[in-house]
Amino acid sequence: MITLDVALGDRSYPIYIGRSLLGKAALIHNYLSGKEVLVVSNTTVAPLYLDKLMASLEGYRAESVILPDGEKYKTLEYLNDIFTALLEKRMSRQTSIIALGGGVVGDMAGFAAACYQRGIPFIQVPTTLLAQVDSSVGGKTAVNHPAGKNMIGAFYQPKCVIADTDVLSTLDDRQLSAGIAEVIKYGLIRDECFLLWLEENMEALLGRDAAALVYAIERSCMNKADVVAADEHECGQRALLNLGHTFGHAIETAMGYGEWLHGEAVAVGMYMAADLSARLGWLETTDVTRVARLLERANLPVKGPRISIEKMKDLMAVDKKVLDGQIRLVLLKAIGDAVVTDEFDAELLDQTLQQCQV
Ligand code: NAD
Ligand code: GLY
Repeated sequence: MITLDVALGDRSYPIYIGRSLLGKAALIHNYLSGKEVLVVSNTTVAPLYLDKLMASLEGYRAESVILPDGEKYKTLEYLNDIFTALLEKRMSRQTSIIALGGGVVGDMAGFAAACYQRGIPFIQVPTTLLAQVDSSVGGKTAVNHPAGKNMIGAFYQPKCVIADTDVLSTLDDRQLSAGIAEVIKYGLIRDECFLLWLEENMEALLGRDAAALVYAIERSCMNKADVVAADEHECGQRALLNLGHTFGHAIETAMGYGEWLHGEAVAVGMYMAADLSARLGWLETTDVTRVARLLERANLPVKGPRISIEKMKDLMAVDKKVLDGQIRLVLLKAIGDAVVTDEFDAELLDQTLQQCQV
């Protein structure tokens, strides 16, 4: 088992990565404060892994709430199902919430934990690659609004993250690739050595080679933990983790949540960011080709769906990086060196949006 630390002073917490961690009672018990637990999962993950998790909670009053599966249910309405379960089951302030699922369950369970009785402890047990490399770490919790993705939420850190790599065996190939998009992101924004490793090991990752998966999760979490420790509330460098997201969130919102997977939309967004960076003279065209090649090898799209430029820009203006009404984008000064900037020519942005559609 690998253990990493998210260094946030008295709110620091470990990330455990390894095989067969789900049934390890001793691991999870260390992070439960009271004797009551509410496991939040969904209709796909619960039949696969809930019993195993529940078995490790013997001796606790462990209850569960099962949400419908899908990005389209990541709403205030379904968030309320978690509060209803907590109240109907008379769960106290000492209750711990355990999020068992992908990024949707993790973001919703974390937000519920941040709000219930003004905050109760929670643990992340991420079950998708995307959640293991990104969403379970760093304390961003949220639900979507029809007008904007992840717009209602809170920063609220978990007590620990338990990433059992065995659960990835039941994940379908499309979801695996969506997770790889966020893995590639770390290479592009701050870790070119990791990008080189990904270029050499993409087939092993897609083939679910156990060692390759563990390494990719570990290296991704190291990068994320570093950035979060330096800038928990995204006053500065944490925004770099949003490479491709302003474009990607606009695609997700325009298409209807769930039509495009988050990782797929981010893949297109990262390609758009590379394309615009080249138009600004920061990247070579060979760099843009390099980005496209790696994304395509991961079975990810680089061209977005047909959405009018005006609509894209409208949706991109609903973004948490907007400052004084100005869209700010994460762009690449070089491969492995990202910046947040509002200094781009509007005409060049239009060209990128035009060029990067199917
Ligand atoms: P998801 O949670 O929808 O999971 C993808 C699919 O895989 C779902 O159908 C799910 O039921 C299924 N699944 C989960 N684990 C499985 C398993 N082990 N075996 C079989 N099927 C399994 O999507 P995701 O890609 O995990 O997360 C995307 C969400 O995460 C988005 O809402 C995005 O906004 C959010 N996100 C948050 C952060 C953050 O920092 N909080 C970062 C990145 C993404
Ligand atoms: N996924 C972006 C962040 O955690 O900041």
